[in-house]
Amino acid sequence: MDYADELISNYEHPHNKGKISGADAKFHEFNPVCGDDLTLYLKVRGGKVEDVKFDGTGCAISIASASMLTDEIKGKKLSEIESMNFEKLKEIIGIDPGPVRLKCATLSLKALKKAVFLYEHKKVDSETEKL
Ligand code: FES
Repeated sequence: MDYADELISNYEHPHNKGKISGADAKFHEFNPVCGDDLTLYLKVRGGKVEDVKFDGTGCAISIASASMLTDEIKGKKLSEIESMNFEKLKEIIGIDPGPVRLKCATLSLKALKKAVFLYEHKKVDSETEKL
């Protein structure tokens, strides 16, 4: 399967779609340009992601990216997530979405990082705000 097929498969059959009731952290992120929105839910144990789910509506890139990102971060330390950036996201999704689809690809990463910062009672850093 090449990267394009992988993206389409993750869009058609997204992994980790749904809600977590009693989530330890969650964040709702919105793309004002297209109206797509996504809520990310986290279950945290011992400073690591025990479970993650996302819910909402979005274009192919935003849903596929959320699916692949949520797969990737299971079991990861919150400190690792704090330092994730756009370069890391490109590695995970396997493509460079280009400037037009950039906000689509980063919607889930932005929600994820904000959920983590909120959980840790930390201020959202400027790198995350720029995503
Ligand atoms: Fe809305 Fe991509 S078109 S997130």
